[in-house]
Amino acid sequence: MDKLALSEIQTLADGSKKVGDLNFPKRKVWVKTYGCQMNYHDTERILSHLTPLNFTLTEDQEEADLMLFNTCAIRDLANQKFYSHLGNAKHLKVNNKTGREVKIAAGGCIAQTESKELLKKYPQLDFAFGTDVIDNIGELVYRAYSGDRSFSVTSWDRADNYSIETKVTHNSPQAFVNIIKGCDKFCSYCIVPFTRGREKSRSIAEIVNDVARLVTYQGVQEVTLLGQNVNSFGKKNGESLAELILELDKIEGLEIIRYTTSHPYDISDELIAAHGKSKKLANHLHLPVQSGSNTVLRRMLRQYSIEHYLERLERLREANPEIVISTDIIAGFPNETEEEHRKTLELLDRAQYDFIYSYNFSARPGTKASKMKDVLTKEIRGRRLREIQKYQLDIQAKLRSEMEGKVFRVLVEKKGQMKGVTKWMGRTSCFRIVHFEPESLDQSYQWHWVDVRITQATALSCQGEVVFDYGRKPGLVQ
Ligand code: SAH
Ligand code: SF4
Ligand code: F3S
Repeated sequence: MDKLALSEIQTLADGSKKVGDLNFPKRKVWVKTYGCQMNYHDTERILSHLTPLNFTLTEDQEEADLMLFNTCAIRDLANQKFYSHLGNAKHLKVNNKTGREVKIAAGGCIAQTESKELLKKYPQLDFAFGTDVIDNIGELVYRAYSGDRSFSVTSWDRADNYSIETKVTHNSPQAFVNIIKGCDKFCSYCIVPFTRGREKSRSIAEIVNDVARLVTYQGVQEVTLLGQNVNSFGKKNGESLAELILELDKIEGLEIIRYTTSHPYDISDELIAAHGKSKKLANHLHLPVQSGSNTVLRRMLRQYSIEHYLERLERLREANPEIVISTDIIAGFPNETEEEHRKTLELLDRAQYDFIYSYNFSARPGTKASKMKDVLTKEIRGRRLREIQKYQLDIQAKLRSEMEGKVFRVLVEKKGQMKGVTKWMGRTSCFRIVHFEPESLDQSYQWHWVDVRITQATALSCQGEVVFDYGRKPGLVQ
């Protein structure tokens, strides 16, 4: 189907939409997203394309007309979760009590590399689509409702430039903005370069217009700039992340700028200087290190040494003394020795991370590391991971306890129940989640800016009390 038909959608008297030769009655779409923030953001983009085709989102999988899986292939566990969820989806499709026709589709990183195998192995799937055809989802859904079955589209966008407009479907002052897609690094363990293709950046001019529009018309106050390696942003167009940040800094009404994920090799002096200069850049940086051992880093093809990494941290902390750092670590890379593992524990001491995400190494098909002969057992890997996590929790408890008595500005997101008590939660600029009790139960703090004094901070939770409520910043649509 061509794009023209989708641009000529008519609404009929019964509320259905006529697109080309097809009628789209009101339908429900259910989505399951796995993986990183990029995938979650892609899901939002997918949903924005399905609204014109009369789909509304449902949380209840049983009432879905269309089930979408946005998949992740980063570790084997992510794949296994998806396959088992597909089994349940098949059951719901076959035993659907309402007599409605249910369609199932898979997108994202597993679909990009395994679409043909998926369709063969799981006949309940109607179609599969890759990571570079998100903006064509409307056409694919149209094709599925025209009766086409078991097809896949995983082509790469061949255009030289990467140009999009950010789609925001939720009504919140926080937005993700893609600035670069793909990854050219080919770390030896990682599947992302295969699932997301080559690096391509948007232009600074386009992103600045995009963010200014989000701030003016959608009340956005915090943006997270997204990419698998945002530090490579603009390289191919003679632009840089530091320049982008300093341009975004000028947008009136924008309060906080974050970016993720960074590669330590590409943290330039200019970017570090931006952490000092920018008034809006958050007091947090996620800087994945992966291992504390230079020999493991070499086998991982990470391109930096621990000395370089620690020097970058020191400069960042000089540029912004408030900054807190977090990281990712892989435990048990093939043939990692006890000595190499201990280097990672040593690094935890030296780097003083605010939190870490840590995982056992998982061999991914097609990567260099998956072909390495490996002497480690599952038990050794598991034990090393537990050691890393325990070691970090002790460091974290000490670091967090230093928050007690201090006041932090927080953007409040939502409320919830903690041990039977209603509490609101928000995040500090340094990305720590803070909980506090409302003055009265019927008071809403959602999207208020508040100053909170920390009363108790442990490795995993921060409790506080409101010392000043600034209320909502004007401009939020609701
Ligand atoms: N672009 C980011 C990370 C993307 S993937 C970077 O360069 O750091 C997120 C995290 O998953 C990685 O930081 C790594 O810690 C982990 N990861 C990636 N591949 C993995 C694998 N094969 N096994 C275990 N963990 C892996
Ligand atoms: Fe994977 Fe390395 Fe690219 Fe990060 S930089 S996405 S770890 S290949
Ligand atoms: Fe997973 Fe793909 Fe993100 S593999 S981590 S969803 S880029």
